[in-house]
Amino acid sequence: MSAIIPFEIHEEVSRKYFDKGKDVTTWTPTNKQTTMLSSTASYILFGGSRGGGKTDAAIRWFLYDIHHEKFRGLVIRRNAKDLTDFVDRANQVWSKFGAKKTGNPAKFTFPSGAIIYTGHLGTDDAYTAYQGHEYHKILIEELTHIPTQELFEKLMGSLRSTEPDLTPQFLATTNPGGPGHEWVKEYWKITDIECENGKKFEEGGLTRLFVPANIEDNRHLADADPQYVQFLKNLPPDLRAKWYEGSWEDIDTENQYYASRITRMKAQGRITKVPIEPSLRTFVVYDIGLKDKMVLWYFQIHGREVRIVNCYANRNKPLKHYSDNQYTFQTDNDIIIEKVFLPHDGNVRSVVDDNLQTRYEKMVELGWNVGFSPNVPISDGIDAVRELIGHCVIDEIRCKEGIRALRAYQKEFDEKMNRYKNTPLHDWASDNADSFRYLALSFPEVMTTGISNIAQMQKNLFKRRKK
Ligand SMILES: Nc1ncnc2c1ncn2[C@@H]1O[C@H](COP(=O)(O)OP(=O)(O)OP(=O)(O)O)[C@@H](O)[C@H]1O
Ligand SMILES: [Mg+2]
Repeated sequence: MSAIIPFEIHEEVSRKYFDKGKDVTTWTPTNKQTTMLSSTASYILFGGSRGGGKTDAAIRWFLYDIHHEKFRGLVIRRNAKDLTDFVDRANQVWSKFGAKKTGNPAKFTFPSGAIIYTGHLGTDDAYTAYQGHEYHKILIEELTHIPTQELFEKLMGSLRSTEPDLTPQFLATTNPGGPGHEWVKEYWKITDIECENGKKFEEGGLTRLFVPANIEDNRHLADADPQYVQFLKNLPPDLRAKWYEGSWEDIDTENQYYASRITRMKAQGRITKVPIEPSLRTFVVYDIGLKDKMVLWYFQIHGREVRIVNCYANRNKPLKHYSDNQYTFQTDNDIIIEKVFLPHDGNVRSVVDDNLQTRYEKMVELGWNVGFSPNVPISDGIDAVRELIGHCVIDEIRCKEGIRALRAYQKEFDEKMNRYKNTPLHDWASDNADSFRYLALSFPEVMTTGISNIAQMQKNLFKRRKK
């Protein structure tokens, strides 16, 4: 019956509740948009190339429920600026249905009493701000901008309904790529070959649907703007695959500094479960990244092999927090950390910690044997990583996020010139990658000081056991 054909529903809604529903009654969905809009799946991912018509359809998706006075919807985008773009587009459609836009971030109130809230994730409490609320529909635009599944699940905690005639539903739009690429791909079990026509499956009693939409599926844009299609076709291979073909496969390219090496490691079984052995020399290396994000790599030396056993990251915590992480790691695994390497700026007084001490002084006070990673140009550090990586095995669980970051670490893209620059992109992946660079640079010192240090280590061990 007609109820599953989206624009007919909209027509019904507009006839019944509003007079000015012109936009939607003349808006005809593409086939892919119809598939998405008519689905009753609980978790829908509308994901493909640029310009596939995802956002346009997502705006209409809310219209099913705006007649319901109790309906509460939520739209999330990672960045405030991108949210503003969405709000402007949504307002053009929703205002025709009588929605009034107020506040910042915007809130849309419909004549029935239905409300759609919008929000971005730029604040510290962003992921918990919605807890305890009830939203019947949540839209996350550009889902792969959310780096981890855990953060996504925090937001999902408020997708629920106490209204019998409002069934909770989640919709995400996204292009492949971005920090959350891997978890999103796993969550919807996406492979390019299997998912050419989409994918639907049950998980934990709920249905997940993946609908791929490419620019070629959206003739409205493809015909109106052939230049844009050409721009997408002319992109470098990896971006072309993601933005034009809508491919979810990982293509290792020259612009990713370590990706092909990580792929090789995986093929050689060197990304695996790595035991933490008490008898091996153990080190920790730090980087202090953007907005005081700290990334710690823990590694052990086993003959000529470097075992990367743990990667820990957090932000805006005092140094003691990281020191505690090290002590816990020691106790849990019955090991002794021989030395902690700070970056050269460890000599600078930090804002997070007590301003009177440098990070170096603080770390020494906390009981650690501290050294500095050499300060050399980034390109030399990158070469050092490329060399070292052939000698590494990495724990696939404890270093999962770190491995993702090493794979993603890439050159900056110059949109004007349509090519990659020769400098790294500063994004979610670069802090982990910078810290790993310091690991590679500190490695020679580890190898040359080891033997003579054994007596010192034993002393340290004795000292710490007494603590
Ligand atoms: N059914 C439709 N009828 C008319 N125009 C449409 C339709 N669907 C999409 N468009 C237009 O096509 C263009 C691209 O659509 P939209 O922005 O929704 O794509 P997208 O998949 O969200 O793109 P991106 O991946 O860049 O975010 C927009 O100008 C939009 O208004
Ligand atoms: Mg979009």
